[in-house]
Amino acid sequence: MKRIVVLVSGRGSNLKKLIDDSAEENCPYEIVLVISDKSNILALDLSREAGIPIKVIHYKEMKNRKHAEKVIHHFCDLFTADFIVCAGFMKVLGTSLIKKWENKILNIHPSLLPAFPGLKVHERVIEAGAKVSGCTVHFVTGELDGGPIISQRVVTVYDHDTPETLAVRVLEQEHILLPYVVRKMAEDKIVVDNGKVFVVE
Ligand code: GRF
Repeated sequence: MKRIVVLVSGRGSNLKKLIDDSAEENCPYEIVLVISDKSNILALDLSREAGIPIKVIHYKEMKNRKHAEKVIHHFCDLFTADFIVCAGFMKVLGTSLIKKWENKILNIHPSLLPAFPGLKVHERVIEAGAKVSGCTVHFVTGELDGGPIISQRVVTVYDHDTPETLAVRVLEQEHILLPYVVRKMAEDKIVVDNGKVFVVE
C-alpha cells in the first residue's frame, strides 16, 4: 500500500476522486495527508469529512517560499509519503523540494501539454482556435507545467464552446485520468527512461 500526500488550493474535485478511489477495495494507495496553502477551501472540508489529516501552510507567514517548502517536505517525510500529488495546488514548487522528490511529484494540468502551460488555459485554447484540448498528468520539474508527461486524455473543442463549457468537459476527463495515473504510480507501473515516461499496462 503506497502512502500519498495531496497538495490542494481550492475546490478539491480531483482530491474527491482520489478519496473515493482510495476507498475502493484493493486500491493500492491511501491518502495520508492533505496539505493546503489556504484555509476555508472546499478541499479541506472534503478531507475532514474523509478523516484525512490536514496541514495548512500559509506562505505569507513563512520566511520565504523555500521555508514553506521545507515545511512541506518535513510533513511528507513525517507521514512517510511515497509520493506527492498536486491536485489544483496553485503554488509553483521550487527546486529544493523537487530535487528531494524527483519523479515523485505528480501534477494535473487542464490542457494537452506542452500546449497551453500556465493559467487561463481554456480561454487561450478557444482563442487559439484549437480543435482538441484535454488534460495531462506529468512529473513536476523546475519548469512550470514542463515535466515529463505521464498520461493525457483528449476532448473535442466545439465551435460553440466557452471557457466554462470546455472546462466542464476537461474536468470530467481529469477525474478519470488522475486516479488512473495515481494507481499506476502506486503499482510501480510508471517507468521513467531518459526523460520519457512509460506506463506499463
Ligand atoms: C484542475 O483543473 C486542475 O487541472 C488544475 O486546477 C484545477 C483543480 O480543480 N491544476 P479541483 O480543485 O481539483 O476541483
